[in-house]
Amino acid sequence: MFQLTCVNVVRGRPFYGGASRKEESCGDGTVPEEALVPVGPLSPELCEGQGFPFRTLSGGLGSMTVATLPDVKAKLLEGKRGLVVGIANEQSIAWGCARAFRAFGAEVAVTYLNEKAKPHVQPLADLIEAPIFMPLDVEQPGQMEAVFERIALEWGRLDFVVHSIAYSPKEALRGRVVDVGRDGFLKTMDVSCWTFLRMAHLAEPLMTEGGSLFTMTYYGSQMVVKNYNIMGVAKAALESAVRYLAAELGPKGIRVHAISPGPLATRAASGIPEFDELLDRAKAKAPVHRLVTIEDVGVATAFLAHDATRLITGETLYIDGGYHIID
Ligand SMILES: NC(=O)c1ccc[n+]([C@@H]2O[C@H](COP(=O)([O-])OP(=O)(O)OC[C@H]3O[C@@H](n4cnc5c(N)ncnc54)[C@H](O)[C@@H]3O)[C@@H](O)[C@H]2O)c1
Repeated sequence: MFQLTCVNVVRGRPFYGGASRKEESCGDGTVPEEALVPVGPLSPELCEGQGFPFRTLSGGLGSMTVATLPDVKAKLLEGKRGLVVGIANEQSIAWGCARAFRAFGAEVAVTYLNEKAKPHVQPLADLIEAPIFMPLDVEQPGQMEAVFERIALEWGRLDFVVHSIAYSPKEALRGRVVDVGRDGFLKTMDVSCWTFLRMAHLAEPLMTEGGSLFTMTYYGSQMVVKNYNIMGVAKAALESAVRYLAAELGPKGIRVHAISPGPLATRAASGIPEFDELLDRAKAKAPVHRLVTIEDVGVATAFLAHDATRLITGETLYIDGGYHIID
């Protein structure tokens, strides 16, 4: 029986569990205990209202509601196998993606950052019956190669990769772009952008029947968003990388996309000052007047992995309720 906790993400700072190492990162990382505000069990209606229907069960850990894997009848991705990188906890965008891909029938390999993160990611990997569960800190030489070698050994091929990681040292992220030092710049670009290029490089020989590569970006790449700073520069590079990869890999049937969600209260986002204001603005300005959920992002990403979208590539797809079209 697979179960997971469904921590309430209705506004009150849900940065629960997880252990992204670089939680000191894209922010200061370690989230103070007092910042954890579980708001009690979610009702099934509320979970459904979050954009992707899933059943809830009472019980489980403490006062938290327990949710099962979404019950999706159309297994549109059955037979596909892919890798999802970037699950830190149940608020992670990568988790929304992994869960959606699995719900649509795909097999999903999952990585965790390190031993500290493992206990938070393991139950989620169990829930989606991940056949491959491995450590991956992209800054550790050889770890990324090891993941792809294992995939080659066990599956012999690969259909999709979701790259959902970013990191910027606090002093780089919190300062003005004009002041960024070389080390902070290189680290930000290395983890947040180059690793996507490397994953594409390692995935290419395994995508023998074509495939799709996804990375997560943000509107701060296109427009100056207060407090997004050097991460905006890295995301601009990432979006450009997506287009070049799409051009280079297109002849092999490998499609490449950047997914650009509106702001979501995740651990990484906890490193961005005044994030609540960003959420308020997103809700007020977006035509749908609703905040995006990780389920919204997961389902849209899974959609782009379907063969029916084989002529769509090189896109930056906004999942932001239309925020980006409004002046
Ligand atoms: N939260 C938002 O508002 C938002 C909006 C748009 C895009 N994004 C992007 O979505 C992606 C996922 O972020 P999230 O919001 O789900 O937060 P998250 O904290 O849940 O995920 C970030 C992940 O990056 C991983 N990571 C950091 N350094 C790493 C390293 N050296 N090796 C391997 N993994 C490493 C962390 O372990 C974590 O799993 C990021 O690229 C982020 O920029 C987030």
